Amino acid sequence: MEYALITGGTSGIGFELARNFAASGYGVIIVSSSSERLQKARQKLKDSYDVKVLEYQQDMRRIGAAAELYDRIKKNNINISILVNNAGVGLVGRTDEIDLQHDEGMLILNIINLVELSKLFIADMYRQGSGRILNVASTGAFLPGPYTSTYYASKAFVLSYSRAIRYEARGKGIQVCTLCPGATKTEFFSREGVNVPRIAMTSEEVARYAYKRFMKNKEIIIPGIINKLQASRWVPVKLKMKIVENMKNQKVKNQG
Ligand SMILES: NC(=O)c1ccc[n+]([C@@H]2O[C@H](COP(=O)([O-])OP(=O)(O)OC[C@H]3O[C@@H](n4cnc5c(N)ncnc54)[C@H](OP(=O)(O)O)[C@@H]3O)[C@@H](O)[C@H]2O)c1
Repeated sequence: MEYALITGGTSGIGFELARNFAASGYGVIIVSSSSERLQKARQKLKDSYDVKVLEYQQDMRRIGAAAELYDRIKKNNINISILVNNAGVGLVGRTDEIDLQHDEGMLILNIINLVELSKLFIADMYRQGSGRILNVASTGAFLPGPYTSTYYASKAFVLSYSRAIRYEARGKGIQVCTLCPGATKTEFFSREGVNVPRIAMTSEEVARYAYKRFMKNKEIIIPGIINKLQASRWVPVKLKMKIVENMKNQKVKNQG
């Protein structure tokens, strides 16, 4: 059985991607920091699809977590055909007010462990001459994000890194794609402490579109017309930053 490994597969976009892979017959491995949430998500997947569903509890905010996860999967003799680096969180606030440790944890989750998992699994993919990676960035990757500065910068990193390793892998049977969702109705916003924007897409819509485009090996996948516009160069960056400020600043104002 071919396996898709999905970090952050317990809710939102990751869970919906897991459903798409399972529906297409892939075995699914979901990873998250919470064994309770993993058990619930696994059960839901098992109830709906006749595929293997495995869970790995691993807190990806820790340095070394990617290597530990990789070792655990190797010890269980599982070969990963598809890696989806989806786990990620945002942080909202003026940069001097965001706690240093929170920023560090987010950067380890959004960047360091994403890079380490990509490096570890792509080396196997090179050896076997095939494999696919989907890294989840954001439309935030295309602009600076006032009051969510490190989060947007982390997603710019993900986009740049993923495009570079895609270029390296061209012609070698390995594909690397980047998903750049815009606002999506998930737990992401409650974790950030802000309201879900009214224009947000559903995670089902985002995952369905992402899955189709990923299977067609599209380099950058942006679901939704408004999100494509947000990512485009034609809208002035200052205007985009003003929109982000208004969206994120509600929390800053509430705190003030
Ligand atoms: N929602 C949006 O508007 C939006 C827009 C652009 C990009 N994105 C990106 O989409 C991705 C998925 O987010 P989502 O919107 O689907 O939000 P979500 O519903 O909050 O899902 C986040 C996932 O990441 C996992 N996760 C969080 N912290 C973790 C940790 N320390 N270790 C392991 N797993 C962890 C969560 O699992 P546990 O809590 O069970 O650990 C959960 O499965 C993220 O990379 C996010 O940046 C989201």
